[in-house]
Amino acid sequence: MASQTTTVLVDNATANNLRSAASHAAENAYAPYSHFRVGAALLLNNGAIITGCNVENASYRLTNCAEQNAVGRAITEHGPTARIVAVAVANADPTVACQPCGACRQTLAEFADATCPVLYPGDKGQPGECTLGDLLPASFTAASLDKKHA
Ligand code: THU
Repeated sequence: MASQTTTVLVDNATANNLRSAASHAAENAYAPYSHFRVGAALLLNNGAIITGCNVENASYRLTNCAEQNAVGRAITEHGPTARIVAVAVANADPTVACQPCGACRQTLAEFADATCPVLYPGDKGQPGECTLGDLLPASFTAASLDKKHA
C-alpha cells in the first residue's frame, strides 16, 4: 500500500460530504457473492458529486466495482470532458479497509490528475487519504500514447 500523505488534501466539509455519499452508495451495493459492499463518490470539476456501488454477477469476472460504475455515470451524465477532482471510497462495514483496486486506479487515472485526492477507509476502517499518484505511480495514460506517436 502506498504511504499515506500527511498533508490534508481536501477540506473537512468536502471530505465529509464525499465520504458520506460513498457510504450511502455502499448501502445499495449488489454483492451477494463477496458480501463486500463498496461505494464510491467522485467530485467533478463542475462541482457535481457522482456515486456508484459495486454490482456483482454470478459469472464473477463480470463484476463491476463501485469506482468503475461511478466513472461510467459521471461521463454519461456530464460528458467526456468531465474531470474528477476528488474521490472517496467507502465500505458498508465501517471497520474494514477498502482501498481502490488496481483496475479502479487505472480507470480513475483516465479522468483525474495524479494530484487528485483519494479518501478511503484504511486499517480497521480509519480514514485514510492520499493522492491518485500515490496509488498508481508511473501510470500508463493518454500521455504515454502521445509519446509513442511523437
Ligand atoms: N470492489 C470494489 O467495488 N472496488 C474496489 O476498488 C475493490 C473491490 C468490489 C468488487 C467485488 O464486488 C467486491 O468488492 C470484492 O472484491
